[in-house]
Amino acid sequence: MKTPTILSAALLSLTITSTLIARQVDTTKLKPFYFEVNDYVEENEHCLRCHGEVKFLLEDPALDRAVYEHMCPDRQIDRDAYYSAVHKGFSCTDCHSYDFNTFPHPLEARLEDSYECLDCHGYDETFAQYHFEDIAQEFQESIHNMDDFTCWKCHNPHSYKAFMRNADDLGEAIVYDNNICLNCHANFSNFTLLTDRAEINVVQSHEWLPNQASHFSHVRCIECHTEINDSILIAHKILPKTEAVKRCTECHSTDSRLMYTLYKFQIKKERKAGFANGIIINQSYVIGANQNLFLNRLSILVFLLTFLVILLHTFLRIRNLKNK
Ligand code: HEC
Ligand code: HEC
Ligand code: HEC
Ligand code: HEC
Ligand code: HEC
Ligand code: HEC
Ligand code: HEC
Repeated sequence: MKTPTILSAALLSLTITSTLIARQVDTTKLKPFYFEVNDYVEENEHCLRCHGEVKFLLEDPALDRAVYEHMCPDRQIDRDAYYSAVHKGFSCTDCHSYDFNTFPHPLEARLEDSYECLDCHGYDETFAQYHFEDIAQEFQESIHNMDDFTCWKCHNPHSYKAFMRNADDLGEAIVYDNNICLNCHANFSNFTLLTDRAEINVVQSHEWLPNQASHFSHVRCIECHTEINDSILIAHKILPKTEAVKRCTECHSTDSRLMYTLYKFQIKKERKAGFANGIIINQSYVIGANQNLFLNRLSILVFLLTFLVILLHTFLRIRNLKNK
Protein backbone atom coordinates (compact mmCIF):
# COMPACT_ATOMS: atom_id res chain seq x y z
CA MET A 1 0.00 0.00 0.00
CA LYS A 2 2.84 2.33 0.86
CA THR A 3 4.70 2.41 -2.43
CA PRO A 4 1.88 3.52 -4.76
CA THR A 5 0.87 6.34 -2.41
CA ILE A 6 4.35 7.74 -2.12
CA LEU A 7 4.68 7.39 -5.87
CA SER A 8 1.45 9.26 -6.52
CA ALA A 9 2.47 12.05 -4.18
CA ALA A 10 5.72 12.37 -6.11
CA LEU A 11 3.83 12.40 -9.40
CA LEU A 12 1.50 15.07 -8.12
CA SER A 13 4.21 17.44 -7.11
CA LEU A 14 5.81 17.02 -10.52
CA THR A 15 2.78 17.65 -12.68
CA ILE A 16 0.69 20.46 -11.30
CA THR A 17 -1.58 21.80 -14.00
CA SER A 18 -4.78 23.77 -13.79
CA THR A 19 -6.91 20.63 -13.44
CA LEU A 20 -4.85 19.01 -10.71
CA ILE A 21 -6.13 19.64 -7.24
CA ALA A 22 -3.02 18.94 -5.18
CA ARG A 23 -1.94 22.02 -3.28
CA GLN A 24 -0.28 23.07 -0.06
CA VAL A 25 -2.31 21.98 2.91
CA ASP A 26 -2.35 23.51 6.35
CA THR A 27 -1.87 20.54 8.67
CA THR A 28 -1.58 22.60 11.84
CA LYS A 29 -5.34 22.61 12.32
CA LEU A 30 -5.53 18.83 12.21
CA LYS A 31 -5.77 16.75 15.38
CA PRO A 32 -2.53 15.04 16.45
CA PHE A 33 -4.15 11.61 16.71
CA TYR A 34 -4.68 11.50 12.93
CA PHE A 35 -0.91 11.40 12.48
CA GLU A 36 -0.58 8.62 15.04
CA VAL A 37 -2.87 6.25 13.15
CA ASN A 38 -2.16 7.25 9.55
CA ASP A 39 0.99 7.91 7.52
CA TYR A 40 -0.86 9.68 4.68
CA VAL A 41 -2.67 12.46 6.49
CA GLU A 42 -1.21 15.11 4.25
CA GLU A 43 -2.08 13.30 1.00
CA ASN A 44 -5.58 12.67 2.31
CA GLU A 45 -5.99 16.41 2.82
CA HIS A 46 -5.82 16.82 -0.95
CA CYS A 47 -9.21 15.11 -0.95
CA LEU A 48 -10.50 16.17 2.46
CA ARG A 49 -10.04 19.87 1.85
CA CYS A 50 -13.19 19.38 -0.22
CA HIS A 51 -14.71 16.15 1.10
CA GLY A 52 -13.99 16.96 4.74
CA GLU A 53 -15.71 20.35 4.60
CA VAL A 54 -19.22 21.69 4.11
CA LYS A 55 -17.91 24.06 1.44
CA PHE A 56 -14.93 23.97 -0.87
CA LEU A 57 -13.05 26.43 -3.00
CA LEU A 58 -13.46 25.98 -6.73
CA GLU A 59 -10.51 27.60 -8.43
CA ASP A 60 -9.46 28.43 -11.96
CA PRO A 61 -5.78 29.33 -11.69
CA ALA A 62 -5.65 30.22 -15.39
CA LEU A 63 -8.23 32.98 -14.95
CA ASP A 64 -7.24 33.57 -11.33
CA ARG A 65 -10.82 33.19 -10.20
CA ALA A 66 -12.30 31.26 -7.28
CA VAL A 67 -15.70 30.66 -5.74
CA TYR A 68 -17.04 28.64 -2.78
CA GLU A 69 -19.42 25.75 -3.44
CA HIS A 70 -21.33 23.44 -1.12
CA MET A 71 -20.10 19.89 -0.67
CA CYS A 72 -23.16 17.71 -0.84
CA PRO A 73 -23.72 16.03 2.59
CA ASP A 74 -23.70 12.51 1.08
CA ARG A 75 -20.13 13.12 -0.05
CA GLN A 76 -18.78 14.65 3.12
CA ILE A 77 -16.37 12.60 5.18
CA ASP A 78 -15.90 13.18 8.89
CA ARG A 79 -12.18 13.17 9.70
CA ASP A 80 -12.63 12.01 13.30
CA ALA A 81 -14.79 9.09 12.17
CA TYR A 82 -12.41 8.25 9.33
CA TYR A 83 -9.33 8.12 11.55
CA SER A 84 -11.18 5.99 14.13
CA ALA A 85 -12.60 3.43 11.69
CA VAL A 86 -11.22 -0.05 10.98
CA HIS A 87 -9.39 1.30 7.92
CA LYS A 88 -8.03 4.36 9.70
CA GLY A 89 -4.51 3.78 8.37
CA PHE A 90 -5.51 4.02 4.70
CA SER A 91 -4.88 6.69 2.12
CA CYS A 92 -7.92 7.60 0.02
CA THR A 93 -6.21 6.31 -3.10
CA ASP A 94 -5.67 2.87 -1.55
CA CYS A 95 -9.30 2.30 -2.49
CA HIS A 96 -10.02 5.07 -4.99
CA SER A 97 -8.49 5.69 -8.39
CA TYR A 98 -5.66 8.23 -8.68
CA ASP A 99 -7.82 9.88 -11.32
CA PHE A 100 -9.78 11.46 -8.46
CA ASN A 101 -6.81 13.79 -8.10
CA THR A 102 -8.31 15.58 -11.08
CA PHE A 103 -11.32 17.85 -10.71
CA PRO A 104 -13.93 17.72 -12.15
CA HIS A 105 -13.52 14.01 -11.50
CA PRO A 106 -13.39 12.05 -14.74
CA LEU A 107 -16.21 9.66 -15.62
CA GLU A 108 -13.92 6.60 -15.78
CA ALA A 109 -12.93 7.13 -12.16
CA ARG A 110 -16.51 7.53 -11.03
CA LEU A 111 -17.70 4.37 -12.75
CA GLU A 112 -14.79 2.24 -11.62
CA ASP A 113 -15.64 -0.92 -9.67
CA SER A 114 -14.78 -0.71 -6.00
CA TYR A 115 -12.90 -3.40 -4.09
CA GLU A 116 -14.89 -6.00 -2.22
CA CYS A 117 -14.09 -6.95 1.38
CA LEU A 118 -12.97 -10.40 0.29
CA ASP A 119 -10.42 -8.95 -2.17
CA CYS A 120 -8.36 -8.02 0.87
CA HIS A 121 -9.77 -10.17 3.67
CA GLY A 122 -10.68 -13.44 1.98
CA TYR A 123 -8.84 -16.55 3.15
CA ASP A 124 -6.43 -14.49 5.22
CA GLU A 125 -5.25 -16.00 8.52
CA THR A 126 -4.85 -12.56 10.11
CA PHE A 127 -8.59 -12.00 9.94
CA ALA A 128 -9.70 -15.59 10.53
CA GLN A 129 -11.60 -14.68 13.70
CA TYR A 130 -14.02 -12.58 11.63
CA HIS A 131 -15.03 -15.46 9.32
CA PHE A 132 -15.31 -13.24 6.26
CA GLU A 133 -16.00 -16.19 3.95
CA ASP A 134 -18.94 -17.40 6.05
CA ILE A 135 -20.32 -13.88 6.23
CA ALA A 136 -20.06 -13.50 2.45
CA GLN A 137 -21.92 -16.79 2.05
CA GLU A 138 -24.68 -15.60 4.39
CA PHE A 139 -24.97 -12.30 2.54
CA GLN A 140 -25.37 -14.20 -0.76
CA GLU A 141 -28.37 -15.97 0.73
CA SER A 142 -29.85 -12.87 2.32
CA ILE A 143 -32.78 -10.92 1.00
CA HIS A 144 -30.53 -7.94 0.29
CA ASN A 145 -28.57 -9.86 -2.33
CA MET A 146 -29.61 -7.65 -5.24
CA ASP A 147 -27.95 -5.42 -7.86
CA ASP A 148 -25.69 -2.72 -6.41
CA PHE A 149 -26.19 -3.90 -2.83
CA THR A 150 -22.65 -4.53 -1.58
CA CYS A 151 -21.14 -5.00 1.84
CA TRP A 152 -20.21 -1.28 1.76
CA LYS A 153 -23.89 -0.30 1.91
CA CYS A 154 -23.94 -1.37 5.54
CA HIS A 155 -20.23 -0.99 6.24
CA ASN A 156 -19.60 2.67 5.55
CA PRO A 157 -16.14 2.71 3.95
CA HIS A 158 -15.17 5.87 5.82
CA SER A 159 -16.52 5.22 9.31
CA TYR A 160 -17.23 1.53 9.96
CA LYS A 161 -16.00 0.16 13.28
CA ALA A 162 -16.05 -3.41 14.60
CA PHE A 163 -18.27 -2.12 17.37
CA MET A 164 -20.00 -5.10 18.97
CA ARG A 165 -16.81 -7.13 19.29
CA ASN A 166 -15.10 -4.35 21.22
CA ALA A 167 -18.12 -2.95 23.04
CA ASP A 168 -18.10 -2.38 26.77
CA ASP A 169 -21.61 -1.03 26.69
CA LEU A 170 -24.06 -3.37 25.03
CA GLY A 171 -26.64 -0.57 24.75
CA GLU A 172 -24.31 1.54 22.60
CA ALA A 173 -23.54 -1.40 20.35
CA ILE A 174 -27.25 -2.04 19.84
CA VAL A 175 -27.78 1.58 18.78
CA TYR A 176 -24.77 1.39 16.44
CA ASP A 177 -25.97 -1.79 14.77
CA ASN A 178 -29.59 -0.67 14.46
CA ASN A 179 -28.54 2.62 12.90
CA ILE A 180 -26.89 0.62 10.14
CA CYS A 181 -30.29 -0.78 9.18
CA LEU A 182 -32.13 2.48 9.78
CA ASN A 183 -29.74 4.24 7.39
CA CYS A 184 -32.04 2.81 4.70
CA HIS A 185 -35.12 1.69 6.60
CA ALA A 186 -35.67 5.15 8.05
CA ASN A 187 -34.20 7.05 5.08
CA PHE A 188 -36.19 6.60 1.91
CA SER A 189 -33.68 8.35 -0.35
CA ASN A 190 -31.04 5.72 0.47
CA PHE A 191 -33.60 2.93 0.22
CA THR A 192 -34.86 4.00 -3.18
CA LEU A 193 -31.36 3.97 -4.71
CA LEU A 194 -31.60 0.18 -4.61
CA THR A 195 -35.22 -0.67 -5.29
CA ASP A 196 -38.43 0.64 -6.83
CA ARG A 197 -40.45 -0.66 -3.93
CA ALA A 198 -42.74 1.73 -2.11
CA GLU A 199 -41.50 3.14 1.19
CA ILE A 200 -41.67 0.74 4.13
CA ASN A 201 -42.62 2.39 7.39
CA VAL A 202 -40.83 0.31 10.01
CA VAL A 203 -42.71 1.86 12.91
CA GLN A 204 -46.00 0.76 11.36
CA SER A 205 -44.66 -2.67 10.37
CA HIS A 206 -43.82 -3.37 14.01
CA GLU A 207 -46.99 -2.11 15.61
CA TRP A 208 -47.70 -5.63 16.87
CA LEU A 209 -44.67 -5.32 19.15
CA PRO A 210 -45.54 -3.66 22.49
CA ASN A 211 -43.12 -1.05 23.90
CA GLN A 212 -41.54 -0.76 20.45
CA ALA A 213 -39.10 1.97 21.45
CA SER A 214 -37.91 -0.03 24.44
CA HIS A 215 -37.52 -3.19 22.34
CA PHE A 216 -35.57 -1.35 19.63
CA SER A 217 -33.13 -0.06 22.22
CA HIS A 218 -32.65 -3.44 23.91
CA VAL A 219 -32.44 -5.78 20.94
CA ARG A 220 -31.02 -5.40 17.44
CA CYS A 221 -33.02 -5.70 14.24
CA ILE A 222 -30.93 -8.75 13.35
CA GLU A 223 -32.12 -10.64 16.46
CA CYS A 224 -35.46 -11.13 14.74
CA HIS A 225 -34.45 -10.89 11.10
CA THR A 226 -31.62 -13.41 10.84
CA GLU A 227 -31.07 -17.11 11.36
CA ILE A 228 -29.02 -18.17 14.40
CA ASN A 229 -25.44 -18.92 13.33
CA ASP A 230 -22.94 -20.24 15.87
CA SER A 231 -19.83 -19.89 13.77
CA ILE A 232 -19.93 -16.11 13.32
CA LEU A 233 -20.44 -13.31 15.81
CA ILE A 234 -22.84 -11.27 13.68
CA ALA A 235 -25.39 -13.25 11.68
CA HIS A 236 -25.75 -11.78 8.17
CA LYS A 237 -28.50 -13.80 6.55
CA ILE A 238 -31.47 -11.43 6.58
CA LEU A 239 -34.57 -13.53 5.96
CA PRO A 240 -37.77 -12.53 4.16
CA LYS A 241 -40.17 -10.76 6.51
CA THR A 242 -42.47 -13.79 6.68
CA GLU A 243 -39.68 -15.69 8.45
CA ALA A 244 -38.93 -13.00 11.04
CA VAL A 245 -39.35 -13.77 14.73
CA LYS A 246 -42.78 -12.76 15.98
CA ARG A 247 -43.33 -15.14 18.91
CA CYS A 248 -42.66 -13.39 22.20
CA THR A 249 -41.44 -16.61 23.83
CA GLU A 250 -38.49 -16.86 21.44
CA CYS A 251 -36.91 -14.27 23.72
CA HIS A 252 -39.11 -14.25 26.78
CA SER A 253 -38.34 -17.80 27.90
CA THR A 254 -35.61 -19.64 29.76
CA ASP A 255 -33.96 -20.75 26.51
CA SER A 256 -34.06 -17.24 25.05
CA ARG A 257 -32.73 -16.88 21.50
CA LEU A 258 -30.86 -13.84 22.77
CA MET A 259 -28.40 -16.25 24.41
CA TYR A 260 -27.42 -17.39 20.91
CA THR A 261 -27.55 -13.97 19.27
CA LEU A 262 -27.17 -10.69 21.13
CA TYR A 263 -25.54 -12.00 24.29
CA LYS A 264 -23.38 -14.73 22.81
CA PHE A 265 -20.14 -12.77 22.64
CA GLN A 266 -20.46 -11.44 26.17
CA ILE A 267 -21.41 -14.90 27.39
CA LYS A 268 -18.33 -16.38 25.75
CA LYS A 269 -16.14 -13.74 27.38
CA GLU A 270 -17.71 -14.34 30.79
CA ARG A 271 -17.45 -18.12 30.45
CA LYS A 272 -13.73 -17.63 29.87
CA ALA A 273 -13.63 -15.66 33.09
CA GLY A 274 -15.40 -18.58 34.78
CA PHE A 275 -18.77 -16.93 35.23
CA ALA A 276 -21.57 -18.32 33.15
CA ASN A 277 -24.99 -16.84 32.60
CA GLY A 278 -24.32 -13.59 34.45
CA ILE A 279 -24.81 -11.41 31.40
CA ILE A 280 -28.54 -11.87 31.08
CA ILE A 281 -28.97 -10.81 34.70
CA ASN A 282 -26.51 -7.92 34.58
CA GLN A 283 -27.34 -6.34 31.23
CA SER A 284 -31.04 -6.63 30.92
CA TYR A 285 -33.93 -8.17 32.72
CA VAL A 286 -35.72 -10.15 30.09
CA ILE A 287 -39.03 -11.22 31.56
CA GLY A 288 -39.18 -15.01 31.64
CA ALA A 289 -35.51 -15.54 30.89
CA ASN A 290 -34.18 -15.09 34.36
CA GLN A 291 -34.23 -18.56 35.72
CA ASN A 292 -31.28 -18.96 37.99
CA LEU A 293 -29.92 -22.49 38.40
CA PHE A 294 -28.45 -21.74 41.79
CA LEU A 295 -31.74 -20.43 43.12
CA ASN A 296 -33.52 -23.43 41.66
CA ARG A 297 -31.21 -25.85 43.43
CA LEU A 298 -31.40 -23.87 46.63
CA SER A 299 -35.16 -24.06 46.70
CA ILE A 300 -35.08 -27.83 46.13
CA LEU A 301 -32.60 -28.13 48.99
CA VAL A 302 -34.80 -26.04 51.29
CA PHE A 303 -37.75 -28.21 50.32
CA LEU A 304 -35.85 -31.45 51.06
CA LEU A 305 -34.56 -30.12 54.37
CA THR A 306 -38.06 -29.14 55.46
CA PHE A 307 -39.26 -32.63 54.51
CA LEU A 308 -36.45 -34.21 56.55
CA VAL A 309 -37.26 -32.09 59.59
CA ILE A 310 -40.91 -33.17 59.38
CA LEU A 311 -39.88 -36.83 59.09
CA LEU A 312 -37.54 -36.53 62.06
CA HIS A 313 -40.21 -34.77 64.05
CA THR A 314 -42.78 -37.52 63.28
CA PHE A 315 -40.25 -40.22 64.13
CA LEU A 316 -39.42 -38.60 67.46
CA ARG A 317 -43.08 -38.17 68.38
CA ILE A 318 -43.88 -41.81 67.59
CA ARG A 319 -40.87 -42.93 69.67
CA ASN A 320 -41.94 -40.67 72.53
CA LEU A 321 -45.50 -42.08 72.39
CA LYS A 322 -44.16 -45.66 72.53
CA ASN A 323 -41.88 -44.79 75.45
CA LYS A 324 -44.82 -43.51 77.52
C1 HEC B 1 -12.04 20.60 -5.47
C2 HEC B 1 -12.79 19.80 -4.57
C3 HEC B 1 -12.58 18.29 -4.60
C4 HEC B 1 -11.43 17.60 -4.37
C5 HEC B 1 -10.06 18.17 -4.06
C6 HEC B 1 -11.76 16.20 -4.48
N1 HEC B 1 -13.08 16.04 -4.77
FE1 HEC B 1 -14.05 14.33 -4.97
N2 HEC B 1 -15.78 15.31 -5.43
C7 HEC B 1 -15.91 16.69 -5.40
C8 HEC B 1 -17.28 17.02 -5.76
C9 HEC B 1 -17.86 18.42 -5.84
C10 HEC B 1 -17.95 15.81 -6.01
C11 HEC B 1 -19.38 15.62 -6.43
C12 HEC B 1 -19.59 16.04 -7.86
C13 HEC B 1 -18.81 15.22 -8.80
O1 HEC B 1 -18.80 14.01 -8.67
O2 HEC B 1 -18.19 15.78 -9.69
C14 HEC B 1 -16.97 14.75 -5.78
C15 HEC B 1 -17.23 13.40 -5.92
C16 HEC B 1 -16.36 12.40 -5.52
C17 HEC B 1 -16.68 10.99 -5.49
C18 HEC B 1 -18.03 10.38 -5.83
C19 HEC B 1 -18.11 10.01 -7.23
C20 HEC B 1 -19.44 9.38 -7.50
O3 HEC B 1 -19.52 8.62 -8.44
O4 HEC B 1 -20.41 9.64 -6.78
C21 HEC B 1 -15.58 10.32 -5.06
C22 HEC B 1 -15.43 8.83 -4.88
C23 HEC B 1 -14.56 11.32 -4.84
N3 HEC B 1 -15.06 12.56 -5.13
C24 HEC B 1 -13.30 11.00 -4.39
C25 HEC B 1 -12.28 11.94 -4.26
C26 HEC B 1 -10.93 11.61 -3.89
C27 HEC B 1 -10.44 10.20 -3.59
C28 HEC B 1 -10.23 12.76 -3.88
C29 HEC B 1 -8.76 12.96 -3.61
C30 HEC B 1 -7.86 12.15 -4.38
C31 HEC B 1 -11.17 13.83 -4.22
N4 HEC B 1 -12.39 13.30 -4.44
C32 HEC B 1 -10.84 15.18 -4.28
C33 HEC B 1 -14.94 17.60 -5.10
C34 HEC B 1 -13.62 17.29 -4.84
C1 HEC C 1 -11.31 1.03 2.45
C2 HEC C 1 -11.54 1.62 1.17
C3 HEC C 1 -11.82 3.12 1.08
C4 HEC C 1 -11.05 4.16 1.57
C5 HEC C 1 -9.77 4.05 2.37
C6 HEC C 1 -11.70 5.37 1.16
N1 HEC C 1 -12.84 5.10 0.46
FE1 HEC C 1 -14.12 6.44 -0.31
N2 HEC C 1 -15.38 4.93 -0.88
C7 HEC C 1 -15.06 3.59 -0.82
C8 HEC C 1 -16.15 2.83 -1.40
C9 HEC C 1 -16.20 1.31 -1.53
C10 HEC C 1 -17.13 3.76 -1.81
C11 HEC C 1 -18.47 3.46 -2.45
C12 HEC C 1 -19.48 3.26 -1.34
C13 HEC C 1 -20.77 2.66 -1.79
O1 HEC C 1 -20.79 1.93 -2.78
O2 HEC C 1 -21.77 2.89 -1.11
C14 HEC C 1 -16.61 5.07 -1.47
C15 HEC C 1 -17.27 6.26 -1.74
C16 HEC C 1 -16.70 7.51 -1.61
C17 HEC C 1 -17.33 8.76 -1.97
C18 HEC C 1 -18.73 8.90 -2.54
C19 HEC C 1 -19.71 9.22 -1.46
C20 HEC C 1 -19.93 8.13 -0.50
O3 HEC C 1 -19.58 8.30 0.69
O4 HEC C 1 -20.45 7.06 -0.87
C21 HEC C 1 -16.45 9.75 -1.69
C22 HEC C 1 -16.66 11.23 -1.89
C23 HEC C 1 -15.25 9.13 -1.19
N3 HEC C 1 -15.43 7.78 -1.14
C24 HEC C 1 -14.11 9.80 -0.83
C25 HEC C 1 -13.06 9.25 -0.10
C26 HEC C 1 -11.98 10.02 0.49
C27 HEC C 1 -11.83 11.52 0.36
C28 HEC C 1 -11.18 9.15 1.15
C29 HEC C 1 -9.97 9.44 1.99
C30 HEC C 1 -10.15 10.36 3.10
C31 HEC C 1 -11.76 7.81 0.94
N4 HEC C 1 -12.88 7.93 0.20
C32 HEC C 1 -11.22 6.64 1.44
C33 HEC C 1 -13.93 3.03 -0.29
C34 HEC C 1 -12.93 3.72 0.37
C1 HEC D 1 -8.11 -2.57 0.06
C2 HEC D 1 -8.10 -3.67 0.99
C3 HEC D 1 -9.26 -3.78 1.98
C4 HEC D 1 -10.60 -3.78 1.71
C5 HEC D 1 -11.30 -3.63 0.35
C6 HEC D 1 -11.27 -4.00 2.97
N1 HEC D 1 -10.36 -4.11 3.98
FE1 HEC D 1 -10.75 -4.32 5.95
N2 HEC D 1 -8.80 -4.13 6.39
C7 HEC D 1 -7.76 -4.10 5.46
C8 HEC D 1 -6.48 -4.04 6.16
C9 HEC D 1 -5.11 -4.00 5.52
C10 HEC D 1 -6.79 -4.03 7.55
C11 HEC D 1 -5.81 -3.96 8.73
C12 HEC D 1 -5.70 -2.55 9.14
C13 HEC D 1 -4.83 -2.36 10.33
O1 HEC D 1 -4.47 -3.33 10.99
O2 HEC D 1 -4.53 -1.20 10.63
C14 HEC D 1 -8.24 -4.10 7.65
C15 HEC D 1 -8.93 -4.14 8.83
C16 HEC D 1 -10.28 -4.50 8.95
C17 HEC D 1 -10.96 -4.80 10.18
C18 HEC D 1 -10.32 -4.78 11.57
C19 HEC D 1 -9.51 -6.01 11.74
C20 HEC D 1 -8.70 -5.98 12.99
O3 HEC D 1 -8.64 -7.03 13.63
O4 HEC D 1 -8.16 -4.94 13.34
C21 HEC D 1 -12.25 -5.12 9.88
C22 HEC D 1 -13.35 -5.54 10.84
C23 HEC D 1 -12.39 -4.96 8.46
N3 HEC D 1 -11.18 -4.57 7.92
C24 HEC D 1 -13.57 -5.14 7.77
C25 HEC D 1 -13.72 -4.92 6.41
C26 HEC D 1 -14.99 -4.98 5.72
C27 HEC D 1 -16.31 -5.35 6.36
C28 HEC D 1 -14.74 -4.68 4.42
C29 HEC D 1 -15.71 -4.54 3.28
C30 HEC D 1 -16.91 -3.75 3.54
C31 HEC D 1 -13.30 -4.44 4.29
N4 HEC D 1 -12.72 -4.58 5.52
C32 HEC D 1 -12.64 -4.10 3.11
C33 HEC D 1 -7.90 -4.10 4.10
C34 HEC D 1 -9.11 -3.99 3.42
C1 HEC E 1 -27.60 -5.41 5.92
C2 HEC E 1 -26.41 -4.85 6.49
C3 HEC E 1 -25.09 -5.57 6.35
C4 HEC E 1 -24.53 -6.05 5.20
C5 HEC E 1 -25.09 -6.03 3.78
C6 HEC E 1 -23.25 -6.59 5.56
N1 HEC E 1 -23.04 -6.42 6.90
FE1 HEC E 1 -21.39 -6.98 7.94
N2 HEC E 1 -22.24 -6.31 9.66
C7 HEC E 1 -23.46 -5.67 9.75
C8 HEC E 1 -23.68 -5.28 11.13
C9 HEC E 1 -24.92 -4.57 11.67
C10 HEC E 1 -22.54 -5.68 11.85
C11 HEC E 1 -22.24 -5.48 13.33
C12 HEC E 1 -21.37 -4.26 13.48
C13 HEC E 1 -20.73 -4.21 14.86
O1 HEC E 1 -21.35 -3.70 15.79
O2 HEC E 1 -19.60 -4.69 15.01
C14 HEC E 1 -21.66 -6.34 10.90
C15 HEC E 1 -20.42 -6.88 11.22
C16 HEC E 1 -19.52 -7.41 10.31
C17 HEC E 1 -18.19 -7.87 10.62
C18 HEC E 1 -17.56 -7.92 12.00
C19 HEC E 1 -17.91 -9.23 12.64
C20 HEC E 1 -17.15 -9.48 13.92
O3 HEC E 1 -16.95 -10.67 14.21
O4 HEC E 1 -16.79 -8.52 14.62
C21 HEC E 1 -17.63 -8.29 9.46
C22 HEC E 1 -16.25 -8.88 9.29
C23 HEC E 1 -18.58 -8.09 8.41
N3 HEC E 1 -19.74 -7.55 8.96
C24 HEC E 1 -18.36 -8.38 7.09
C25 HEC E 1 -19.31 -8.22 6.07
C26 HEC E 1 -19.10 -8.64 4.70
C27 HEC E 1 -17.85 -9.30 4.15
C28 HEC E 1 -20.23 -8.31 4.03
C29 HEC E 1 -20.57 -8.56 2.57
C30 HEC E 1 -20.39 -9.92 2.07
C31 HEC E 1 -21.14 -7.69 4.99
N4 HEC E 1 -20.54 -7.66 6.21
C32 HEC E 1 -22.38 -7.19 4.66
C33 HEC E 1 -24.34 -5.44 8.73
C34 HEC E 1 -24.15 -5.80 7.42
C1 HEC F 1 -28.46 0.22 1.84
C2 HEC F 1 -29.85 0.14 2.22
C3 HEC F 1 -30.30 -0.92 3.20
C4 HEC F 1 -29.76 -1.24 4.41
C5 HEC F 1 -28.55 -0.63 5.08
C6 HEC F 1 -30.61 -2.27 4.97
N1 HEC F 1 -31.62 -2.57 4.12
FE1 HEC F 1 -33.10 -3.90 4.42
N2 HEC F 1 -33.86 -3.52 2.56
C7 HEC F 1 -33.34 -2.61 1.68
C8 HEC F 1 -34.08 -2.67 0.44
C9 HEC F 1 -33.81 -1.82 -0.80
C10 HEC F 1 -35.11 -3.62 0.63
C11 HEC F 1 -36.22 -4.01 -0.35
C12 HEC F 1 -35.81 -5.19 -1.11
C13 HEC F 1 -36.82 -5.49 -2.20
O1 HEC F 1 -36.81 -4.80 -3.21
O2 HEC F 1 -37.62 -6.38 -1.97
C14 HEC F 1 -34.94 -4.13 1.98
C15 HEC F 1 -35.76 -5.07 2.56
C16 HEC F 1 -35.66 -5.49 3.89
C17 HEC F 1 -36.62 -6.35 4.56
C18 HEC F 1 -37.95 -6.80 4.00
C19 HEC F 1 -37.87 -8.11 3.37
C20 HEC F 1 -39.21 -8.54 2.79
O3 HEC F 1 -39.47 -9.73 2.92
O4 HEC F 1 -39.93 -7.71 2.26
C21 HEC F 1 -36.15 -6.59 5.82
C22 HEC F 1 -36.78 -7.45 6.89
C23 HEC F 1 -34.90 -5.86 5.94
N3 HEC F 1 -34.64 -5.21 4.76
C24 HEC F 1 -34.14 -5.84 7.08
C25 HEC F 1 -32.94 -5.13 7.20
C26 HEC F 1 -32.08 -5.19 8.36
C27 HEC F 1 -32.35 -6.03 9.60
C28 HEC F 1 -31.02 -4.37 8.11
C29 HEC F 1 -29.81 -4.12 8.98
C30 HEC F 1 -29.03 -5.26 9.39
C31 HEC F 1 -31.23 -3.78 6.80
N4 HEC F 1 -32.39 -4.28 6.28
C32 HEC F 1 -30.38 -2.86 6.20
C33 HEC F 1 -32.28 -1.76 1.90
C34 HEC F 1 -31.47 -1.77 3.02
C1 HEC G 1 -38.98 -8.47 17.91
C2 HEC G 1 -38.61 -8.86 16.57
C3 HEC G 1 -38.27 -7.78 15.56
C4 HEC G 1 -37.39 -6.74 15.71
C5 HEC G 1 -36.57 -6.37 16.93
C6 HEC G 1 -37.37 -6.05 14.45
N1 HEC G 1 -38.24 -6.64 13.57
FE1 HEC G 1 -38.60 -6.05 11.68
N2 HEC G 1 -40.12 -7.40 11.54
C7 HEC G 1 -40.40 -8.38 12.47
C8 HEC G 1 -41.53 -9.16 11.99
C9 HEC G 1 -42.16 -10.35 12.72
C10 HEC G 1 -41.92 -8.61 10.74
C11 HEC G 1 -43.07 -9.05 9.86
C12 HEC G 1 -44.27 -8.26 10.29
C13 HEC G 1 -45.53 -8.68 9.60
O1 HEC G 1 -45.47 -9.28 8.56
O2 HEC G 1 -46.58 -8.34 10.17
C14 HEC G 1 -41.00 -7.51 10.48
C15 HEC G 1 -41.02 -6.73 9.33
C16 HEC G 1 -39.98 -5.88 8.94
C17 HEC G 1 -39.83 -5.25 7.63
C18 HEC G 1 -40.78 -5.43 6.44
C19 HEC G 1 -41.95 -4.53 6.65
C20 HEC G 1 -42.93 -4.48 5.49
O3 HEC G 1 -44.01 -3.90 5.75
O4 HEC G 1 -42.65 -4.98 4.40
C21 HEC G 1 -38.72 -4.48 7.68
C22 HEC G 1 -38.15 -3.64 6.55
C23 HEC G 1 -38.17 -4.62 9.01
N3 HEC G 1 -38.95 -5.47 9.74
C24 HEC G 1 -37.03 -3.98 9.44
C25 HEC G 1 -36.62 -3.94 10.77
C26 HEC G 1 -35.62 -3.04 11.27
C27 HEC G 1 -34.85 -2.03 10.46
C28 HEC G 1 -35.51 -3.30 12.61
C29 HEC G 1 -34.62 -2.63 13.63
C30 HEC G 1 -34.80 -1.20 13.82
C31 HEC G 1 -36.44 -4.38 12.93
N4 HEC G 1 -37.10 -4.72 11.79
C32 HEC G 1 -36.58 -4.95 14.18
C33 HEC G 1 -39.73 -8.59 13.66
C34 HEC G 1 -38.81 -7.72 14.22
C1 HEC H 1 -35.89 -10.46 20.03
C2 HEC H 1 -36.26 -10.74 21.38
C3 HEC H 1 -37.62 -10.28 21.88
C4 HEC H 1 -38.85 -10.56 21.33
C5 HEC H 1 -39.17 -11.38 20.08
C6 HEC H 1 -39.82 -9.94 22.20
N1 HEC H 1 -39.18 -9.29 23.22
FE1 HEC H 1 -40.07 -8.22 24.72
N2 HEC H 1 -38.26 -7.67 25.42
C7 HEC H 1 -37.05 -8.14 24.96
C8 HEC H 1 -35.98 -7.57 25.77
C9 HEC H 1 -34.48 -7.81 25.60
C10 HEC H 1 -36.61 -6.76 26.73
C11 HEC H 1 -35.90 -6.02 27.84
C12 HEC H 1 -36.20 -4.59 27.85
C13 HEC H 1 -35.82 -4.00 29.18
O1 HEC H 1 -34.79 -4.36 29.74
O2 HEC H 1 -36.58 -3.16 29.65
C14 HEC H 1 -38.04 -6.85 26.48
C15 HEC H 1 -39.01 -6.17 27.21
C16 HEC H 1 -40.36 -6.40 27.11
C17 HEC H 1 -41.36 -5.77 27.94
C18 HEC H 1 -41.10 -4.76 29.01
C19 HEC H 1 -40.94 -3.44 28.32
C20 HEC H 1 -40.56 -2.32 29.22
O3 HEC H 1 -39.46 -1.80 29.02
O4 HEC H 1 -41.33 -1.98 30.10
C21 HEC H 1 -42.58 -6.24 27.54
C22 HEC H 1 -43.95 -5.88 28.10
C23 HEC H 1 -42.33 -7.15 26.44
N3 HEC H 1 -40.98 -7.21 26.20
C24 HEC H 1 -43.32 -7.84 25.76
C25 HEC H 1 -43.11 -8.56 24.60
C26 HEC H 1 -44.17 -9.14 23.79
C27 HEC H 1 -45.66 -9.11 24.14
C28 HEC H 1 -43.57 -9.73 22.73
C29 HEC H 1 -44.22 -10.46 21.56
C30 HEC H 1 -45.24 -9.73 20.82
C31 HEC H 1 -42.15 -9.53 22.87
N4 HEC H 1 -41.91 -8.80 24.00
C32 HEC H 1 -41.19 -10.00 21.98
C33 HEC H 1 -36.85 -8.99 23.91
C34 HEC H 1 -37.84 -9.48 23.07
